[in-house]
Amino acid sequence: MKEDDVTSEREQLEELVSSVLESSKYRNVCEDLIRKIGRRELSKGQNVKTAVKATKNKLHQIGGAYFLKKPNYDSWLKKLKEAKSQGEDLFRDVCAEIMSYHQSTRERLKILDQFYTRIFAFLPPVRSIMDVACGFNPLSIHWMPVPNDVKYYAYDVYKDLIDFINNFMAICDVQGCADVREVIQDTPQERTDVAFLLDTIPCLEQIERWAGLKVLEAVNSDFLVVSFPVKSLCGREKNMRKHYETAFNRLTEEKDWSIQKLEFMTEQVFIIKK
Ligand SMILES: C[S@@+](CC[C@H](N)C(=O)[O-])C[C@H]1O[C@@H](n2cnc3c(N)ncnc32)[C@H](O)[C@@H]1O
Repeated sequence: MKEDDVTSEREQLEELVSSVLESSKYRNVCEDLIRKIGRRELSKGQNVKTAVKATKNKLHQIGGAYFLKKPNYDSWLKKLKEAKSQGEDLFRDVCAEIMSYHQSTRERLKILDQFYTRIFAFLPPVRSIMDVACGFNPLSIHWMPVPNDVKYYAYDVYKDLIDFINNFMAICDVQGCADVREVIQDTPQERTDVAFLLDTIPCLEQIERWAGLKVLEAVNSDFLVVSFPVKSLCGREKNMRKHYETAFNRLTEEKDWSIQKLEFMTEQVFIIKK
């Protein structure tokens, strides 16, 4: 490729990234992800305007569409701090209310009382957790049968969400940290007892084919907890369990991993022992 073409491609990509970041809906999305999606869209030969539109659509499908309400992190933190001083029950109620504003945790709320108890029954004692593409899931730590000094590492692509999770962890003295990360090209490497990839593989696979497997292989944990929704975002339930089970089996068929399936009303879980 000629040097002029490379420069023009680079300029087009930077123009696309700036344009996406101008929109209030996407200004908090990590640039690595915008660049990854934008590069692919531009490589299809479309102009910058069309590629910007396609990039925003993809960002909506893999993240934006799951927010059921515009996050108000400042007011949520205030509420969490007040609740914390008034006791554990109220604190959990506020966590549950906030989780109800994100589609994945909203669905999980219906089964949360048994979700982690059943999963952790298959795991050796857990002292460290990695939550890959975490969304609001770190707020469910108080439903997990783990010691108070458990280390929790959480990653997602939204900067404001990650700030919120770090503040949440400080309020409830959770050790660990949250970080902004595009996890396909830069998979987190902390060694943890277990890693969660909840409701996330379908999103990663929309960005890049086989990205789900790539991340499962790269994560540095012996146990991986992978889940899939049983309903589409628009509420369609037909064949979803079968569809995702087949996709998951195809993704992992060449691996010598032992896999345990757990069925829940709103989610299908696979526990992988590497
Ligand atoms: C369906 S939600 C699941 C959230 C959470 N794991 C749960 O189950 O409650 C998918 C999450 O993946 C995040 N995400 C999508 N692509 C990502 C990427 N390449 N790197 C990191 N996070 C990503 C989105 O921002 C979103 O929070």
